[in-house]
Amino acid sequence: MYSEDAVVIVDRLEKVYSGDVRAVDSISFEVGRGAIFGFLGPNGAGKTTTISILTTQTMPTGGRAEVLGYDVVKEPSKVRKGIGLVPQELTVDDELTGRENMELQGSLYGVPYSDAKGRIDELLDLVKLADSADRYVKTYSGGMKKRLELAEGLIHRPEVLFLDEPTLGLDVQTRTSMWEHINKLKRETNMTIFLTTHYLEEADALCDRIGIIDHGRIIALDTPEGLKKAVGGDVIEIEVVECEDDILEMIRNMTDVVLVDGACTDNRARIKVPDSGVALPKILTSLIDRDVQVASVMVRKPSLDQAFLEFTGRDLRDEESTSGNNKKEPGPRKGRFHRRR
Ligand SMILES: Nc1ncnc2c1ncn2[C@@H]1O[C@H](COP(=O)(O)OP(=O)(O)OP(=O)(O)O)[C@@H](O)[C@H]1O
Ligand SMILES: [Mg+2]
Repeated sequence: MYSEDAVVIVDRLEKVYSGDVRAVDSISFEVGRGAIFGFLGPNGAGKTTTISILTTQTMPTGGRAEVLGYDVVKEPSKVRKGIGLVPQELTVDDELTGRENMELQGSLYGVPYSDAKGRIDELLDLVKLADSADRYVKTYSGGMKKRLELAEGLIHRPEVLFLDEPTLGLDVQTRTSMWEHINKLKRETNMTIFLTTHYLEEADALCDRIGIIDHGRIIALDTPEGLKKAVGGDVIEIEVVECEDDILEMIRNMTDVVLVDGACTDNRARIKVPDSGVALPKILTSLIDRDVQVASVMVRKPSLDQAFLEFTGRDLRDEESTSGNNKKEPGPRKGRFHRRR
């Protein structure tokens, strides 16, 4: 059963390209109205293919998908009316001004010029391009072009916006300002946003829910918090002034401490706990009770980077040199805690 507020429903969706490339391999998920859903995965994972199917540009080879209550295969024109798409590759026309690009997009979507005129000013303002609206796009920076693409995707006031890698190739500052635009959209319009990204911190910062896709399959689907929890908790690093052999043993025996990795030789212990807020006071109290002097304490919360590593067995960088569905065996997991079974 699907939830009532689901505006995107994907059910065992599949896309096999010629040459037996299984780009999307029986994925299922739904996106609720007003949510920001993040589709996270490395190159060639199947993100753009999924977006192409949901935006009716590519036919699936199996399963089904609905957007705003319409089947993407049976009622593509109804789907298209309600959605906006900002594609991965830039499509803005360099030989036109920003405003002319917006006007062209408005007419392509059948927005009457009288409505489009006001909206164009509003949207260019939203993406901070009002001052450059009448300059040729060939004079824009990469970040400005991306922002113009975002504004274009909004010209017909879509209910669901698909953003394929909205910040790829942007510098950190421009990326952060793009996040602000996306968050503002959500706050002010309650638009449902489906975005794909390689950037874990982006998914963490923006999304209500995240699907991690790898080799066409969804390997994790949860809130950012849930994903981080699934990774197995926080890491506490404690350094003591002098180490007695049994300190590690004592920590190891505490009930909510999951794993200990450390050596007395460097007076340091790395401890993995479900919740550092609960475990740290207990550990410190035990150490103080034994007159152990603590030199430093560091707590690291799990990141989505770790989550990706945990679920796929490798980190995103491993994938960047590979393309397509070339399956790669997970490499050795250096310096990591062993997975808890
Ligand atoms: N038109 C096509 N014909 C054949 N294979 C394709 C086609 N489009 C994509 N593929 C293959 O499908 C797989 C998924 O590609 P897709 O573009 O969906 O990945 P992606 O997750 O968007 O990657 P990226 O992060 O690089 O944008 C890849 O193996 C790709 O080579
Ligand atoms: Mg892509």
